[in-house]
Amino acid sequence: MRVRSIAHVPDEIQMLFHPSTLSQLVSLQDRMSLLRGDDRFVYAVLLGILHANARTDGTPRGLTVAMPNTFAMAPNYVKQYIRVHRLKAPEVDVLDAVAERIESLEIPTSGFRRGAAWMQDVRATIAWPREKGKASLIFASPPYLQVMKYGKMNWIRLWLLGHEPKDVDNGLFTSASLARYREFMTAALKRMRARLRADGYVCLVIGDVRQDATTVNLAKEVADGCAGLAGLRVLEVLDDHLPVKHKVSRIWGETRGRATKTDRILVLGGPKAQRLPAYPKIDWSSANCYGV
Ligand SMILES: C[S@@+](CC[C@H](N)C(=O)[O-])C[C@H]1O[C@@H](n2cnc3c(N)ncnc32)[C@H](O)[C@@H]1O
Repeated sequence: MRVRSIAHVPDEIQMLFHPSTLSQLVSLQDRMSLLRGDDRFVYAVLLGILHANARTDGTPRGLTVAMPNTFAMAPNYVKQYIRVHRLKAPEVDVLDAVAERIESLEIPTSGFRRGAAWMQDVRATIAWPREKGKASLIFASPPYLQVMKYGKMNWIRLWLLGHEPKDVDNGLFTSASLARYREFMTAALKRMRARLRADGYVCLVIGDVRQDATTVNLAKEVADGCAGLAGLRVLEVLDDHLPVKHKVSRIWGETRGRATKTDRILVLGGPKAQRLPAYPKIDWSSANCYGV
């Protein structure tokens, strides 16, 4: 790949990468467009491998110095950490790493139905492709009362995509007010209902949150306070008790004590949706269950 200057790249990004790895990324940014499907796929793969923890020998699995794959720590914290622990950024052939990752995804070449995805505010009319007909199932995980700033915590991935974390966060819903949360969820569910078949389902993963000294069962709040207003029936609220060792937010010092402990799956149905059969029990001790 042609060598690209990295002089214009912000210092907080330069500190994370080996110059050769960064130069390749900048070159890819120049050549790829988010308007092209194939490029979007390569971007998605790159975002998945951009930062990750260390292998047992201490070398990073991702393209940056070792850090969690889930969210990126704050730039100043990372700067200090690199200095104190003398972290070294890996020299990686980016296209080889992308190819290896795609290989490991075992993407089926046939026998699958292509989905559709697009980016929008869930409060606006849902830009559902006309030719698709209405949905049988919508599966989503809405925000949980201001626990996370998704833009800020994805600042490295957003650099790759050319977005400002602040702009992203400004467009997202965050509020610690339960009343505003109910309004937000009612508006979102009304939008979804308009694109759902009468016998279709909406499943929402919603975690409990702590507010002051109490735990709020947010899934129940949405079931009792929003679903009916949006013309949806409550079919089930499944407890999804994830053993703490699997929980992504556990690795975050800053959110410890505030992070979600119990996730629930709220199952809603359109007016003609059938009741669900009994669901299988998940054995989290099984070797096939991975958190992070
Ligand atoms: C609990 S997270 C879900 C995470 C997701 N399940 C995943 O695995 O990445 C909540 C998501 O809601 C998104 N969000 C917040 N406000 C939104 C809005 N107004 N419209 C659309 N999405 C929004 C956030 O960007 C975040 O990705």
